Amino acid sequence: MRVELGSRGYSILIGRELLASAAGLIADEVGHRRCVIITDRNVAGLYLQQLEASLLSCGDYAGSVVLPAGEASKSFSQFERLVEKLIGMGVERGDMLVALGGGVIGDLVGFAASVLRRGVRFVQIPTTLLAQVDSSVGGKTGINSSHGKNLIGTFHQPSLVLIDTDVLDTLPRRELLAGYAEVVKYGLIDRAEFFAWLEKNLGRIVDGDPEARAYAVTTSCKAKAAVVAADERESGRRALLNLGHTFGHALEAWAGYDGSLLHGEGVAIGEVLAFQFSERLGLCPSGVSGRVARHLQQAGLPTAISDIATSSSPTVEELLRHMQQDKKVKGGELVLVLARNIGESFIQKSSPLAELKDFLTEKVFREQG
Ligand SMILES: NC(=O)c1ccc[n+]([C@@H]2O[C@H](COP(=O)([O-])OP(=O)(O)OC[C@H]3O[C@@H](n4cnc5c(N)ncnc54)[C@H](O)[C@@H]3O)[C@@H](O)[C@H]2O)c1
Ligand SMILES: [Zn+2]
Repeated sequence: MRVELGSRGYSILIGRELLASAAGLIADEVGHRRCVIITDRNVAGLYLQQLEASLLSCGDYAGSVVLPAGEASKSFSQFERLVEKLIGMGVERGDMLVALGGGVIGDLVGFAASVLRRGVRFVQIPTTLLAQVDSSVGGKTGINSSHGKNLIGTFHQPSLVLIDTDVLDTLPRRELLAGYAEVVKYGLIDRAEFFAWLEKNLGRIVDGDPEARAYAVTTSCKAKAAVVAADERESGRRALLNLGHTFGHALEAWAGYDGSLLHGEGVAIGEVLAFQFSERLGLCPSGVSGRVARHLQQAGLPTAISDIATSSSPTVEELLRHMQQDKKVKGGELVLVLARNIGESFIQKSSPLAELKDFLTEKVFREQG
């Protein structure tokens, strides 16, 4: 499939056993270039050799860099280490970076590619479900600041996204489910029939049925590519992709990025909260948030603040503060993605803060009780 962005457009290839033929696929798309692979320790142990062998066979292999796994690698210190290392390896403007890993590697490598020698090309080979359906497509790159996540970054589109769905077989189940919350998101935004398909095929996806997985990944990439093509730099419609994220990010920030709440788990709770809040404002028929919550619960995802495995609960003030710090705040007004129904989400520019406060108070207290 193509992401239609004119001269910055690119292909997304989705299939099985693509890793073994990656070098040929890259060369077909962008010609032969010297490629440096950047990956994390976990993924290196599983897939680096295979990718190296493929690039070596085409004579395009220029080395690899293996970073520690985890969100902490999206930092200034790892970024500095990486770009210094790449310059030391003699990476030139015409060379190619290959990001092999989850969203952490994809975001960091994309950012490095956007500034190294004023910009080099890069290929995304996403290995988590979250990265395959979300972070590898769209060109948002970046690292975290001590003030918050993803506050330093660029828009830099990849030259190619190569999605080998077989690599999901080794992904820990909790990570797979976290990515699944993003798959569900596309159904909730504007594809009601896809949500209904997910309700029927959840078991096949979670148990690793290749056809069901390929369909879910392809539909998700199509949905994301359409939104990105319409609004590359998020001046409007792209903000729909933040459904569940303003609530989710606040919960993640409160939980402290220590592994107690994965991004996708925060998004799952956030999706339910967005529908519950929409119902409360009378925007959405009652019962719809229940259907959303049931599906996510069936998948094994958390759907309420009380599902987070921490010793304490957040206060409403903490949550509101984090929500207002989220970069989706414009001119002091909170922008939320709300919904009229499944598949009918919209951007609410100035959300009523007093109502939101009452709603969160109810969520935090009632669920604690
Ligand atoms: N750029 C964007 O548009 C965008 C969108 C969504 C999320 N993100 C970012 O993505 C990041 C999260 O990405 P993630 O959830 O992929 O996390 P991740 O990259 O940390 O990967 C999760 C874990 O799975 C391991 N792993 C990866 N692939 C594996 C495989 N095939 N088998 C076994 N283990 C494997 C990794 O080593 C890691 O321990 C966050 O930093 C988030 O901000 C970016
Ligand atoms: Zn997300």
